[in-house]
Amino acid sequence: MRNAFRMLVCVSLSTAAVRAQNPVPSKIPNGLPEWAYNIPDKVQPPEPRVPATVRAAGSSKEYEAAAIVGNANPPDWFQDEHPPAPRSVKGPMPNACGSCHLMSGQGHPESADLAGMPPEYIIRQMTYFKSGARSEETRMGPIARAVSEEDVREAAAYFAAITPRPFVKVIEAATAPKTYVSADARHRRIHPDGGTEPIGRRIIEIPEDPMRTTIRDPHSGFIAYVPPGSIAKGAALAKAGDAGKTIQCALCHGDALTGLGEVPRIAGLQPVYIARQLMTMQNGTSAGANAALMKKVVVNLSEDDIIALSAYLGSLPPR
Ligand code: HEC
Ligand code: HEC
Repeated sequence: MRNAFRMLVCVSLSTAAVRAQNPVPSKIPNGLPEWAYNIPDKVQPPEPRVPATVRAAGSSKEYEAAAIVGNANPPDWFQDEHPPAPRSVKGPMPNACGSCHLMSGQGHPESADLAGMPPEYIIRQMTYFKSGARSEETRMGPIARAVSEEDVREAAAYFAAITPRPFVKVIEAATAPKTYVSADARHRRIHPDGGTEPIGRRIIEIPEDPMRTTIRDPHSGFIAYVPPGSIAKGAALAKAGDAGKTIQCALCHGDALTGLGEVPRIAGLQPVYIARQLMTMQNGTSAGANAALMKKVVVNLSEDDIIALSAYLGSLPPR
């Protein structure tokens, strides 16, 4: 239906046609909170319209929106900001990494930030996804099984060589704008009806500029609203390990939490992504020996602790 619809539209396209295609939403493991898993709202407000030709501020490029539909040909707005990209990242090929993780590697809250991550770490996650040890069957499982080892090595080297920029602003607030999880974008957007709602025990993350995010502009980041007091509470937990509740993050992730050896950076990642990983590690999949290290870190964390740690880590500079 939707494909037929796309072929008929020639003047303007729905955002669904422009951003990466995300298939059916993932299920939430063990009844974990929906907000961390970006489950689309049942009632979807109309999506914003994207013009037929798209441009990003500061880039000399322009693309026909129809040419960057789906996951095979991601737009590369700022070619001079990254090393030459291998085919696995830029396409054309099904599920080119740059379409969901952006050519900058920094991704959206529903995917992941790969910029500057250790190549060994990226490769290891791909083997976990492939075997199902890290279970993510909507996207990364099938992708990891379809790509060659060489594609993975090239992609890992590419993303590892990129310096991440601050990509999310973390704001403490008792009330957040009213939002919905878009079925097309698989992240939250401001609800067109406007208004605010209590944040409750959630992290509410939205694009700074939904249209720039839709066209996968890597210079336009996200805003994460977090409950008041989260950042200081998360800092205390991360630094002190809070009397046996967890383990000091810096021991393994480095003093600035920007990564150490093969252990990934956790500073400046999207808070919704961090919370999702901590919850998933606590409740579900744990992969090999390396991921088992994190089991001890997360086993005693409450949902509020996870929110606090995610808020704190998201607020840190990625470099
Ligand atoms: C259709 C969208 C999509 C495409 C294309 C895609 N990914 Fe992903 N990727 C995701 C999502 C979604 C996640 C987050 C999974 C989760 O929440 O655990 C992810 C997570 C990852 C992670 C884990 C990151 C971390 O910090 O642990 C790695 C590594 C990764 N992807 C590598 C790749 C590589 C390499 C490619 C290209 C061969 C690729 N991805 C293509 C959607 C995609
Ligand atoms: C004993 C060592 C150790 C400690 C302490 C530790 N971590 Fe980790 N962490 C790891 C390792 C190793 C990985 C990568 C696992 C893998 O390779 O799959 C990881 C991965 C992660 C990830 C996933 C990153 C991604 O990109 O998906 C998050 C989030 C994380 N740690 C958060 C934390 C937090 C928060 C703390 C402190 C409360 C912490 N870690 C303390 C060893 C540790």
